Amino acid sequence: MATRNTIILAAGKGTRMKSKLYKVLHRLCGKTMVDHVLTQVEQTKMDNIVTVVGYGAEAVEKELGDRTKYVVQGEQLGTGHAVLQAEDLLADLDGMTMVVSGDTPLFTAQTFDNLFKYHEDKKAKVTILTSKAPDPTGYGRIVRNELGIVTKIVEQKDATPAEAEIHEINTGVYVFDNRALFTALHQTNNQNAQGEYYLTDVIEILKNQGETVAAYQMADFYESMGVNDRVALAKATKIMQARINEGHMRNGVSMVNPDDTYIDVDVKIGSDTIIEPGVQLKGQTVIGDDCYLGAHSEIRNSILHDHVTVTSSMIEDSEMKSGSNIGPNSHLRPESVIEENVHLGNFVEIKKATIGAGTKVGHLTYVGNAKLGKNINVGCGVVFVNYDGANKHETVVGDDSFIGSNSNLVAPLNVADHTFIAAGSTITDDVHQYDMAIARQRQTNKPGYFKKLSYKVD
Ligand code: UD1
Ligand code: MG
Repeated sequence: MATRNTIILAAGKGTRMKSKLYKVLHRLCGKTMVDHVLTQVEQTKMDNIVTVVGYGAEAVEKELGDRTKYVVQGEQLGTGHAVLQAEDLLADLDGMTMVVSGDTPLFTAQTFDNLFKYHEDKKAKVTILTSKAPDPTGYGRIVRNELGIVTKIVEQKDATPAEAEIHEINTGVYVFDNRALFTALHQTNNQNAQGEYYLTDVIEILKNQGETVAAYQMADFYESMGVNDRVALAKATKIMQARINEGHMRNGVSMVNPDDTYIDVDVKIGSDTIIEPGVQLKGQTVIGDDCYLGAHSEIRNSILHDHVTVTSSMIEDSEMKSGSNIGPNSHLRPESVIEENVHLGNFVEIKKATIGAGTKVGHLTYVGNAKLGKNINVGCGVVFVNYDGANKHETVVGDDSFIGSNSNLVAPLNVADHTFIAAGSTITDDVHQYDMAIARQRQTNKPGYFKKLSYKVD
């Protein structure tokens, strides 16, 4: 049976990144480079996906999990040597094998499909995916004879001055006849400028054996960009971000300045949502319809339902239900759930708390480890005192209660529904239904005392 396989090369250290992190684990738009590659490969029909790991093998395997098989390249002796590590898993299969690098994160499944189709149409032994680079520096060059037929790929460091002038580059993606690939790999050597076993040498080997070598030139060079250093990583990020943002705008999302809007690849956004400049939407965030995300808001791994307004605030691992609003300058820390039509105003911090529907927390307040019911009014400067220096404790406040300004609610504490806490109180004991609690010293007025003060004015 003819199989379709993919080998992802991800064993290199990535010296040019000058990083403690292995190259393919650098991130753009919320995902590692190698995960972007795998995600696109997964969208084209494959019988086997094998990832070659070496440097940082454990970290790469942890990142990709069981979505791919793995082979280990103990020593990084070149891309040809890397592919050879998959021999035990694949060599006996009939069919086609695509090779792709873990450092080319912008490729789309559509391009992979086009490449397979071209390869089959040409009945080739290998088809190289090529593109025309405005600046080909660093890439392998595609050498064609006077008839335009590809004869070999020359690496930058091995190129003659004339070859270095060629702008058609090797994108590092190929489809091979599977058996021909592994047979030819055994004929490569490391007699080149880098002393490595080059996968690219397989092209010349097959050509010299009279096999059909095809090249499919894709239109968009930028999709084929390889990321070898931080400058390229920044460029690739910009391109991917533009692609993601365009997708959302085409689906009915408004962006005031898409060049200054940062949305991770897995984020979902409903239609008629408006996004102001500087907004960052990270991780697995889901935003509903008709939301307004004000300038410089940052939302991570959170769910916002429809009609939610966020004004210059930060939201982490939390949920805001329909009609609720927050900000400016407020912070939802993890595990907060904000029910319908809640108002959270300026400088409010909520942590691991549920805020019931219609409740208002307007100003300068900290709510941590708490459950608040419906239609509560929390005044200005209220502190839910949740930490005793060793443990966190919970506070529960029932529906329709009123928490006066500048109160401290010292947990563990139960404040029943329909209660009133007087401003400036430090509440340490439970408050029962229909009670008013006041816990502050009474005011004393001393008549005429002002005149006795040494700094009196007259
Ligand atoms: C490679 C190609 C070059 C092409 C470019 C496209 C070769 C010899 N050169 O160059 O023609 O234009 O990609 O981006 O193939 N890797 C291993 N084991 C190794 C060496 C590399 O797994 O021993 C992996 C790396 O992790 C990386 C990929 O192979 O994901 C490509 O290696 P890299 O060093 O980036 O090759 P380039 O110099 O970019
Ligand atoms: Mg590279």
